[in-house]
Amino acid sequence: MRDITIELLQQKSTIHCGAGTFEKYAAGFDQKNVFVVTDSNVFAWYRYDIWRMFGDKVPVYIIPAGEPSKNLRYLTAVLREMLNHNMKRSCTVVAFGGGVVGDLAGLAASLYMRGVHFVQIPTTLLAQVDSSVGGKTAIDFDGVKNIIGSFYQPETVIADPRFLSTLPEREIRCGLGEIIKYGALNRGIYGLLQTNINNLKFPAFLEEITYHCIKHKAEVVAADEHDLNGVRKTLNLGHTTGHALELYYRKKSHGEFVLIGMYYELYIAEKLGACSKRYASALRNMIAAVIPKMPFYDDIAQAAEMAKYDKKNVGWDVSLVVPADEGETTELILPLEQYSKLLAECSAMIKEGQ
Ligand code: NAD
Ligand code: GLY
Repeated sequence: MRDITIELLQQKSTIHCGAGTFEKYAAGFDQKNVFVVTDSNVFAWYRYDIWRMFGDKVPVYIIPAGEPSKNLRYLTAVLREMLNHNMKRSCTVVAFGGGVVGDLAGLAASLYMRGVHFVQIPTTLLAQVDSSVGGKTAIDFDGVKNIIGSFYQPETVIADPRFLSTLPEREIRCGLGEIIKYGALNRGIYGLLQTNINNLKFPAFLEEITYHCIKHKAEVVAADEHDLNGVRKTLNLGHTTGHALELYYRKKSHGEFVLIGMYYELYIAEKLGACSKRYASALRNMIAAVIPKMPFYDDIAQAAEMAKYDKKNVGWDVSLVVPADEGETTELILPLEQYSKLLAECSAMIKEGQ
């Protein structure tokens, strides 16, 4: 068990990492004042844990599992249920689930009575290494991802690998998507990934790498909590294209699209001379360890349009954070037409190679 603390101007956020943290820390909350948000899958697996830790009378709001629930309708429903249960300002919203639950519950916690206590118990690999840490909350709106949200730090995050044992293999891949992103941001994590390229899905490796990813994210968040000075923007590597493809095609999950986005953006970086052939090829090998068959899209130019709404953009040009060298990134700002053309080139190259 290891703790990481993010010291922020107005508060701190403590992340308890490792096996045993759920038993040790979830028992410490005031049961009478807890409101749990979870999803249908997580509730089916872990309802007895919820009742054991928070009491069998604890109010639990269960959203249908999956990204489509991250919307205004379920945000309103959570808030209404909190009001119906007469939750007070001193209450604690516990997000017990993956990134969808965490993003939605966090936004609800930030809005209810202008803000109540918030705790994240992430149950997916992706949520443990990324979404539960750092205080970004959001819902999707009018077909645009994460467009309504707030910065609202969880006071506590409990990242216990015990929950990963019930995760479908695909969700492990999604988490590895974000982990490989950290590999492109941090030399140490890159080295660990290189050394363990054949053990990426082993529980012991996942527990160790989770700690390092959270540590990296905590440092970034401490340096740029509100995404204002460019430091936090780096965490968006792979996401401009990943989000655009996710919104347009929908079939895959966030983490898979992050990896696919990273692959396509690597092509752009290499083509525009922002990243060396050698390093791009090493990163591609890492991506291939998780997604051996990269998808191509004949209509990717239409999907590229979705990148217009990326929050990093200034004006209508598209901003991409791309790998430059080990542990280094750079930002490319491209006209939409050029971005779209380069994506189409990459897609055609993948198609030709298969
Ligand atoms: P998710 O929450 O949809 O969970 C994935 C699936 O796993 C769901 O079907 C869920 O029911 C199931 N599941 C969760 N825990 C389980 C468990 N222990 N055992 C079995 N099944 C389980 O998706 P996710 O990948 O966790 O998160 C993706 C979301 O996170 C996206 O909406 C993305 O935008 C968001 N995100 C937010 C941030 C942030 O900083 N706030 C960062 C990255 C991603
Ligand atoms: N996942 C991007 C961020 O937290 O800034």
